[in-house]
This record gives sequence, structure tokens and C-alpha cells, in this order.
Amino acid sequence: MTMTTDDPFAAFKQMQKAGWASFAPLQAITTITAARLVEHARIRSGQRVLDVGCGTGVVAVTAARLGAKVSGLDLTPELLAEARENSRIAMVDIDWHEGDVEHLPFEPNTFDVVVSQFGHMFAPRPDVAVSEMLRVLKPGGTIAFSTWPPELFVGRMFALVGSYMPPPPPGVAPAPQWGDPNIVRQRLGDAVRDIAFDRATMLVPALSPQHSRTTMERTAGPVLKLVEMLSANDPEKLAKFRREYETIVAEYLEDNIVRQDYLMTRAIKV
Ligand SMILES: C[S@@+](CC[C@H](N)C(=O)[O-])C[C@H]1O[C@@H](n2cnc3c(N)ncnc32)[C@H](O)[C@@H]1O
Repeated sequence: MTMTTDDPFAAFKQMQKAGWASFAPLQAITTITAARLVEHARIRSGQRVLDVGCGTGVVAVTAARLGAKVSGLDLTPELLAEARENSRIAMVDIDWHEGDVEHLPFEPNTFDVVVSQFGHMFAPRPDVAVSEMLRVLKPGGTIAFSTWPPELFVGRMFALVGSYMPPPPPGVAPAPQWGDPNIVRQRLGDAVRDIAFDRATMLVPALSPQHSRTTMERTAGPVLKLVEMLSANDPEKLAKFRREYETIVAEYLEDNIVRQDYLMTRAIKV
């Protein structure tokens, strides 16, 4: 594990790690968007690809099945165990690493493509995450990621969760800032050229707003942690959070599908 002991955000990352441990069931949904990101990143056979915040490895396995030589890295060992099983079933070799996007265990200029599907956005310091992702990318290589915009369902839901949580340590950027193209441009800066954006929609089945909430409470790190905390300390506040969640998700639920629109970014390292 490459999280350093002098990391000022070690406790925050420990909490992320515990929160995401139960995410595996959502791979049924992120499998579909993984193919979309692999296409957006223009991954081809023979390329060296790194998937950061790989979770159960949906993007990594998709890229490996195209013939890319893939490494996948994630904070959460429970998800990496599932990722290993996914690559075994798909009969592809992937180099899996437990680690932190803010401290990547790779030499500079190693990869042709660095991707992240809703992964690197959860690192506390965007500048550190992006400089690491660019450090391990070859000049002329592609960085590409999918992220949740702040003004749409998932971004609004994370803002709601944040409003109930104790404030994070100073210096932690809200994850959905990564879904704003202007902020993405600023963060990538002049280290890249040819930034291209696209948008896509994750379609998530749900029988009711309450079903959507229940799924998030069981799988999505920040929601799971909040519900754990409020269940122990403040059931009334928990009930209020649940009502507010259901009001937001109802705006996006139609025909038993929650529309979760997101941003995709691609750029070339100069
Ligand atoms: C929403 S899940 C996405 C997982 C996967 N990419 C997918 O699309 O199914 C977010 C992932 O980011 C990982 N993560 C959060 N902070 C991280 C960090 N600092 N370094 C590496 N991975 C991190 C979590 O462990 C989790 O697997």
C-alpha cells in the first residue's frame, strides 16, 4: 500500500476506503459506462493503460479485452479482490495495485493512457491527483475521465450528503467540482493540449425514490458513511436527510430509471 504515513489526509482516505468497500454491486451499472469511457479515451490494442480508482476493474477489464496492457489501482482492497476475480473470469492479465492516486507507484512517462471512471474525483487534493496522473503519462499520451457535474443528480446528492457531514479537513475539494468543464480546464492547465468534453447518461434502474436511496445507502461510500453516523446519533436528522434525498431523486426518476448525466474529459499531455 503506497499511502504514506506522513500524509495529512490519511484519516480522510481511511474513511473513503471504508466507505467504498461495499460498492461492488454497482458494477452492474458502471460496466456499461466503462465501455463509453474506453471509447472516449480511444484506447487501442498494445497501449499501456492505467485505470485509477479502478474499483472492481470495469474500465481496466474493458481495455484489456481490447488488447491493451493494463494496470489498475484503487484504495479499497475489497474492490480489488472483485477486480482480480473479474480479470480472471474475462481471462485477461491485469497488474492490480492497492494504492492512492495522490501517490502513484509508477515511474514517470510509463503509460500511453491514464483513465478514471468516477474515481480520481474522490481524492482530496485535485492538484496532487492530476499532477500524479500526468507524471506517469507519456508526453503525447491521453488522460481521460468521467466525473459527476455539481448541478445534476449525483453532484446534488453529494452536496446534500456534505451538508449533513462534519466539515472535511481544510484543503479537501468537493468531488463534483471535477464535473465542471471550466474547473477541469484550470486543473489540467497548460500541461495538456486538445481538451475535449462529451456528456453521457448513466441509466440506473429504480422502482421508487426509496429504492434509489436504499441502493445508495448500501453502496456509495459517502452516503453509506453518513447513514452509519446518523443511525447511531440522530435518527430525526437521518429521516430528514432521507426525505430530502427522495425529493431530489424524484426529479430524475422516470419510467423506473434514474438519469445520472455526467461529463467525460479527454486531453493530450504536452
Ligand atoms: C464510485 S467508485 C468508482 C469505481 C470504478 N471506477 C467504477 O467505475 O466502477 C470510486 C472509487 O474511487 C476509489 N478511490 C477513492 N479515493 C481514492 C484515492 N485517493 N486513490 C485511489 N482510489 C480512490 C474508491 O476506492 C472507489 O473504488
